[in-house]
Amino acid sequence: MIQEVIRSRRSVRTFDGNPLSQVHAQLLTEHLGKTENPFGVPVEIRLLDAKENGLTSPVIVGAKQYLAGKVRREGDYELAFGYAFEEICLYAKELGIGTVMLAASLNRSVFESVMQVGPDEVLPCASPVGYPAEKMSFRESVMRKGIRADQRMAFERMFFLGDFEHPLSEQAAGVFAEALAMMRLAPSAANRQPWRAVVSENRVDFYVYHSMSESRLGDIQKVDLGIGLCHFDLVMQAQGLPGRFVRRLPGIPAEEKLEYMISFEVRR
Ligand SMILES: Cc1cc2nc3c(=O)[nH]c(=O)nc-3n(C[C@H](O)[C@H](O)[C@H](O)COP(=O)(O)O)c2cc1C
Repeated sequence: MIQEVIRSRRSVRTFDGNPLSQVHAQLLTEHLGKTENPFGVPVEIRLLDAKENGLTSPVIVGAKQYLAGKVRREGDYELAFGYAFEEICLYAKELGIGTVMLAASLNRSVFESVMQVGPDEVLPCASPVGYPAEKMSFRESVMRKGIRADQRMAFERMFFLGDFEHPLSEQAAGVFAEALAMMRLAPSAANRQPWRAVVSENRVDFYVYHSMSESRLGDIQKVDLGIGLCHFDLVMQAQGLPGRFVRRLPGIPAEEKLEYMISFEVRR
């Protein structure tokens, strides 16, 4: 069940030093060929050998391979990238493979050159893939404590009913309760959890709460939103409640740090 995969996922930075089994490498590669996202911007993700390509990360121990992805800067490319990359990471988790998205902790120029990132493209992040080591490195456990990686903001602080004045409890979130609860567990850069949403009847309006500045790589918090939307969408589908993403300015007063991105409508 997808909810189980989401609940048991955590970022993995310490691996056991083995490469992926041939079967897993093949399954992952086949899955990469099928990456889709609902935002209409294609995302290319490849499985790469670390040593052969000189790929390294100062926070990763024992990984022999990496996933790296790139996308053209057009439309909702950050959402598309976050969604597609997370979908693969959840699939990997189902196979027992660990991942962690890395936007900052990687030798970026090498990744970009291996992926032949063009001037109109961006490589928002990459991830090691491998089998989690039994024990986390000291560095990883210190890092996790530092960013409170095991904690999430309260449901009521992220999600609202009708407007931003009325916090929404999980119990009151109706058909969206489970999917929003699973969005809340998603990974995000520096664990900032920028997902915000306003629920009204059969629609959810999604916003990003900006607490980091944009860089030449685009807006990493929009990538976070794409990751959260992947969790949300997969859980809605799994519950037999598919919907579609539409852009429809909700006209709800919102503080400056909140940017409306997209809405989800349940199909009736
Ligand atoms: C877009 C994105 C970029 C990230 N970049 C880094 C990074 O550069 N280095 C790192 O150690 N972790 C990175 N992370 C991992 C987060 O720190 C992690 O997801 C968060 O602390 C929550 O922990 P969890 O994934 O174990 O739930 C990134 C995560 C996301 C989603």
